[in-house]
Amino acid sequence: MEISNAVFYKCSSKKTPEIDGQKLFKILAKVESEHASVWKKLLKLDKIEFPKYNSCASDYKPNLEESHQREERAIKFYGEAAADATNPRIKEIFKAFIEVETDHLKLSEKRLN
Ligand SMILES: [Fe+2]
Ligand SMILES: [Fe+2]
Repeated sequence: MEISNAVFYKCSSKKTPEIDGQKLFKILAKVESEHASVWKKLLKLDKIEFPKYNSCASDYKPNLEESHQREERAIKFYGEAAADATNPRIKEIFKAFIEVETDHLKLSEKRLN
């Protein structure tokens, strides 16, 4: 999920014509790649592969709408993960993710309204 979100934001940062959107999506791409790295550590993976992705929109609004959907999904995912986690340290990590993803959700919400 984080990898998919990271490549979506990278794509959006390139295809969105508005500078505000390019900046916003670039920051989000960076944060989501960092989230992928946290998962890499949690799962003790050797490395993560970011696939090529070019299927984002060429306009700001549809990319904001997709961002909103993706962040809602992330919040739901980490909410369930936090509820299921038995290790208290892992639970805290998932709760911290929920806060970050909620901030991301607000970024698109603010711009869509
Ligand atoms: Fe994330
Ligand atoms: Fe996010």
